[in-house]
Amino acid sequence: MKTAIIGTGNMGAGLARRLAGKRDLILASRNGAAAKSIAEEIGSSSAPIATAVAEADIVVLALPYGSALEFAGSEALEGKILIDITNPLKPDFSGLLFANETSAAEQIQSNAKGAKVVKAFNTIFAELFAASPDQTVTIPVFLAGDEDAVEISAALVRDAGFAVEKIGSLDAARLLEPLGMLNIRLGYGLGRGTRIAPKWAVVQG
Ligand SMILES: NC(=O)c1ccc[n+]([C@@H]2O[C@H](COP(=O)([O-])OP(=O)(O)OC[C@H]3O[C@@H](n4cnc5c(N)ncnc54)[C@H](OP(=O)(O)O)[C@@H]3O)[C@@H](O)[C@H]2O)c1
Repeated sequence: MKTAIIGTGNMGAGLARRLAGKRDLILASRNGAAAKSIAEEIGSSSAPIATAVAEADIVVLALPYGSALEFAGSEALEGKILIDITNPLKPDFSGLLFANETSAAEQIQSNAKGAKVVKAFNTIFAELFAASPDQTVTIPVFLAGDEDAVEISAALVRDAGFAVEKIGSLDAARLLEPLGMLNIRLGYGLGRGTRIAPKWAVVQG
């Protein structure tokens, strides 16, 4: 399955590096030179955004929430799996734009009518992509969305060197996005740094 990564900032580039050699990848960004340079570095291909989307089965939106929301309105996404990694932060980073009643993932899905949106990677700091996969293989990427689309996305998560934690249908993003915010609070606000990630513990016995 061909995977397009749209956006070559911290998350897009980091994920691309993790998936290099494991996935048929095509990178795209509004700054085509950035996508080309990372694609050359990792031995994948790059293309203008419209071409990348047309060729891909899975499209990862590695964009700020507002841009991802706008992008999701494109008819070209019909029939694709759309991976939403956003944390919909307020402009001053003081909290989320919304929670409880809706989520970024559901807003993106409501724009992307013919696509299946899967929420993933929003609790993973970009810095973790630079760690060795041995260090992240037990760290969960929480996945919410349509069951089949989540199953397909789970393979991408494993290829990226993380564990899979399925949390049900897309409305579970209402829980996941606040968890992303908590991670940001711990990492930035409370000084724990960006080499942390939430993981559920099981107490034996
Ligand atoms: N950074 C993290 O640790 C982290 C963790 C979890 C989730 N996330 C989420 O991941 C997403 C990306 O974060 P990031 O840290 O990778 O951000 P970033 O480094 O700022 O990169 C954002 C990318 O989006 C592109 N972009 C911005 N507006 C665009 C538009 N209107 N059309 C097309 N491309 C546009 C940028 O292009 P230019 O380079 O041309 O500006 C850049 O390639 C965000 O939604 C964030 O909430 C981030």
